[in-house]
Amino acid sequence: MSDHAKLSYAGKDYDLPVIEGTEKEIAVDISKLRADTGLITIDPGFKNTGSTKSAITFLNGEEGILRYRGYSIEELAEKSSFLEVSYLLIYGELPTKPQLEHFQNEITTHTLVHEDIKKILDGFPSNAHPMGVLSSLVCSLTAFYPESLDPNRSAKEVDLSIIRILSKMPTFAAWAFKNQIGHPVNYPDNELDYDSNFLKMMFALPAEKYKVNPVVAKALDTLLILHADHEQNCSTSTVRVVGSSQASLYASISAGINALWGPLHGGANQAVLEMLEQIEKDGGDTSKFIAKAKDKNDPFRLMGFGHRVYKNFDPRAKIIKKAADDVLDQLGVDDPLLNIAKELEAIALKDEYFVEKKLYPNVDFYSGIIYRAMGIPTEMFTVMFALGRLPGWIAQWKEMRENNEPIGRPRQVYTGENLRSYVDVNKR
Ligand code: MLT
Repeated sequence: MSDHAKLSYAGKDYDLPVIEGTEKEIAVDISKLRADTGLITIDPGFKNTGSTKSAITFLNGEEGILRYRGYSIEELAEKSSFLEVSYLLIYGELPTKPQLEHFQNEITTHTLVHEDIKKILDGFPSNAHPMGVLSSLVCSLTAFYPESLDPNRSAKEVDLSIIRILSKMPTFAAWAFKNQIGHPVNYPDNELDYDSNFLKMMFALPAEKYKVNPVVAKALDTLLILHADHEQNCSTSTVRVVGSSQASLYASISAGINALWGPLHGGANQAVLEMLEQIEKDGGDTSKFIAKAKDKNDPFRLMGFGHRVYKNFDPRAKIIKKAADDVLDQLGVDDPLLNIAKELEAIALKDEYFVEKKLYPNVDFYSGIIYRAMGIPTEMFTVMFALGRLPGWIAQWKEMRENNEPIGRPRQVYTGENLRSYVDVNKR
């Protein structure tokens, strides 16, 4: 393979370096293009632009491959745990037993948040969307740990900021939920593992002896692993760009949470549930909505099918489907929305139109179903996604800092007015 690409422009030839990744992905390096030729490139949505070199996550959308630090998502989901995967993403290698124990112990002992953060929470109206509450509480950590404002501190100090956010995020997420339903918050229980502690903070009622269902805790752990990183998606790119200005870890993660909030990104599983509700309200006739989805003139879109980067199947969806079946069986839920979801899934997996167009159910389709079966309300789905994506954001922020990446500053092609003279307001 040639290590240069040729560009002919205005009668001149230019050599552009071609770089190759460890999985043979190739890219034309255009970083000097403007200086050499006066040209910039334009790529709305950066769909064909590599913003960085990264050693964290490998994704091949054509073949349905997802790997964290070289380990397949299938193997990690089966054999690992969310905290172990978090360590792997952030520090690059699987931890040894003592390293994992130390990491788990650190995270468990930092779950409590400053009591004044509760006052901030109390200031939110109870109808506040939990994503807004979550991003605000995460950003408030900059006030409680002002030393974290400087991202250039020693690795040890940065590690403490990392431990703090990993530990406190489940507390914030559960508190955002409690705020929404107007219940008193539950404090963390450091006797419990990460998932069980979160479920208890979410669902325990005052004076209740809450028992964590191990099948639910396991399914939650799997979901968090599946969401832990997805290379340079919208929220991750946001975290890297915000962090590239040397904003702190907490400010960068808070920005990532806001980027994730939108229905085209993390809000997609919420959109799936809203679609199921729409179908149910209409009488629950799935074949009618399948026909609507096929009709080019009908604005109805089947949410949770197909994916922006996976062109054959979403490897996460295969794993999550099993977790969804386990949770539904275990909890024995009989829910009309879940029945509609199962019918849609069965049709889409067989119907020629969907098979041909590769519109298979994706990770958002199944995660929404599991969260609903667990009793997590629709508005909390994106918060659950954020909880899972957190180690990925941290790993990407850390890599960007360690690589000394420059500030993110894209260019544009200006399409506005040329220079014109100011006209006095009385003469316009
Ligand atoms: C993700 O996991 O971030 C989503 O699937 C969106 C994406 O990768 O673009």
